[in-house]
Amino acid sequence: MKKLWQKNWNLDKTIEAFETQVDLVLDQKLVKFDILGSMAHAQGLYKIGLLTDEEIKLLKTGFQEIINLNDLKQFVLQFGDEDIHSKIENHLTQTLGEVGKKIHTGRSRNDQVLTAIRLFTKDSLLQIWPATLELIEAFLDFSLKHAGVLMPGYTHMQKAMPSTMGLWAGAFAEGLLDDLALFQTAYTLNDQSPLGSAAGYGVPLFLDRQFVANLLGFGKVQNNSLYCQNSRGKIESVVVAALIAILQEINKFATDLLLFTTSEFRFVEISSELCSGSSIMPQKKNVDVAELLRSKVHLLLGNYSQLVGLSSNLVSGYNRDLQDSKKPLFESLELTCSCLQVAKLLVDSIKINHEQINMAISPELFATHHALNLVKQGVSFREAYQKTAVSYQEKSFSDFSIKDSVHLGGIGNLGLPQLKKQLKNEQKKYQIESDKYQAVISSLLSQKETHEKKD
Ligand code: ARG
Repeated sequence: MKKLWQKNWNLDKTIEAFETQVDLVLDQKLVKFDILGSMAHAQGLYKIGLLTDEEIKLLKTGFQEIINLNDLKQFVLQFGDEDIHSKIENHLTQTLGEVGKKIHTGRSRNDQVLTAIRLFTKDSLLQIWPATLELIEAFLDFSLKHAGVLMPGYTHMQKAMPSTMGLWAGAFAEGLLDDLALFQTAYTLNDQSPLGSAAGYGVPLFLDRQFVANLLGFGKVQNNSLYCQNSRGKIESVVVAALIAILQEINKFATDLLLFTTSEFRFVEISSELCSGSSIMPQKKNVDVAELLRSKVHLLLGNYSQLVGLSSNLVSGYNRDLQDSKKPLFESLELTCSCLQVAKLLVDSIKINHEQINMAISPELFATHHALNLVKQGVSFREAYQKTAVSYQEKSFSDFSIKDSVHLGGIGNLGLPQLKKQLKNEQKKYQIESDKYQAVISSLLSQKETHEKKD
């Protein structure tokens, strides 16, 4: 395949393989998004009189054909195509003739690839967002259902104070709600249109960047052309940092689950369909899904480190090193999406072993309560502490009630209504954003779309 930059030399095959082989696989995921970017760019060119009515119509049929071929898995990148941007332009030129050669007017592959990546990332984030909300809801439902189930609370992995299954699950819901703040910041930063910044220095044409950004549903135009390129890899790293926060919550949940399902603890059980066995030990039922959930935050940390590293020590502007940022970004988005789905399956399948968990409720968990009872009778805390340290084993804890811990966030007052309200607000925010995105994308894809009149 002829390269877009082809002049009077041919690229050495070993070099071509080195430069493009991994990229060809990754770029396959960008087909739809590169087409969307190209559709909007073409409309922008039409708006400023650089494409005629006839040409924009032709291009639209060309874009639609590629979308159809891609849906049928017949638009497959092959060695020699270099990248998705080249393949699409070459295809348009082959099928439509001269007009195909006009689509690259006023853009560079540098802003083109950035646009496709931002759209791809946005699309993925719009899948991760509701999956996070569903996981939060699952934790909140679990917390409400088991708000009264006592369990030991641990510090230093030693029994500390009475806790509840409700407190335990509610902690993950609240953690994930916090993570949404970081997530939305990353979403907003990614939601900027780099299209029109060209190679990183703009072009001497009257491009209407805002018009094109609106067509693509971007929140704003990324203003400075050079910054568009400088932000490649950096915005990706912010996105992955936000995903890491989510996976940190999932990591802790998975680690607890692994402990609570051991035969020594047996506080809870996980449905058999979610567990696997051993090839040699017939008795085994492993919750290895939780181990694989736990591991993913580490993979993302590696990806984060790749993204920060790849985008550092580069001089301003486009550097080909940035091509390697696609793999860690794409992998992080995909892993987070599947972790959220799997974590929800796990939460929904947890069965509490009440008998076992009751046996774990032992006197030392109430030592602090006895000390505080003395405090209520006027004894100083330090004196009460010393007295209780020698007597707590003999004391009864049958008169203890969860309701005694009524301050907000205590086991008698989990603050679930507030968290539910917060979740509802978050669900609304997501719905608004998702509806906006769906409307913009279907309007762009629609053949009925009327072109804006030329000024
Ligand atoms: N595959 C490249 C990337 O992802 C395409 C961008 C531009 N290439 C170029 N030689 N300027 O970065």
